Amino acid sequence: RLANREEVPDWFSPPEVIACLRRAYRGADNRGLVLWLTGLSGSGKSTMAGMLARRLEAMDQRTVTLLDGDVIRRFLSKGLGFSRADRDENIRRIGFVASLAARHGGIAIVSAISPYRNARAEARALVEDNGGLFVEVHAAASLQTCLTRDAKGLYARAMEGTIDAFTGIDDPYEKPLQPDIQIDTARVPPIDAVDRIINSLVERGLIS
Ligand code: PPS
Repeated sequence: RLANREEVPDWFSPPEVIACLRRAYRGADNRGLVLWLTGLSGSGKSTMAGMLARRLEAMDQRTVTLLDGDVIRRFLSKGLGFSRADRDENIRRIGFVASLAARHGGIAIVSAISPYRNARAEARALVEDNGGLFVEVHAAASLQTCLTRDAKGLYARAMEGTIDAFTGIDDPYEKPLQPDIQIDTARVPPIDAVDRIINSLVERGLIS
């Protein structure tokens, strides 16, 4: 009967209905979700975040907002530097936008070094206070790996002293003590890393 287009009501959109039924069947959580990717510069956060956004857009009906550190610093955090106060302010702003996306039932994917534990905890609290779920993902490549890769040439400049307060060189990176998900991005290629993250979210009932 549904094949007869005239009998299909306007609101009936099969992919949406199917996604809804799948979520209900699996008991997946429909709350807004923030995936917070933290890690050193060059640890692969942005690559994973972009791939995750595309995968989630294809499989989940919720809107996906990608908040990438480099892009945020060109717009929302333009003018902020890399002092502790400025980084804290940057993370506060990103956390605020992510919490809004989650509050409206969407998925926000954040990719920012976010080197300080307190700032990450503050972002988590804000998201959770707004009714969202917060999943901290540590892109755990070692400093040695990131230094060797140095795709942007920034580590070399930091070592020469032409960039100040570079994370891992002369500014701290406080590793997550209990990340929800940890990926050894030195060994695991991005495509497999994204599979692991997706599988972990499905197992936890956070996506369908
Ligand atoms: S933070 O610490 O979370 O506020 O940093 P974030 O907004 O993610 O910005 C990191 C990108 O800025 C570039 N960059 C620096 N990173 C660290 N320390 C210093 N001093 C610095 N100066 C510029 C760098 O390209 C980072 O990008 P990614 O993608 O992490 O490599």
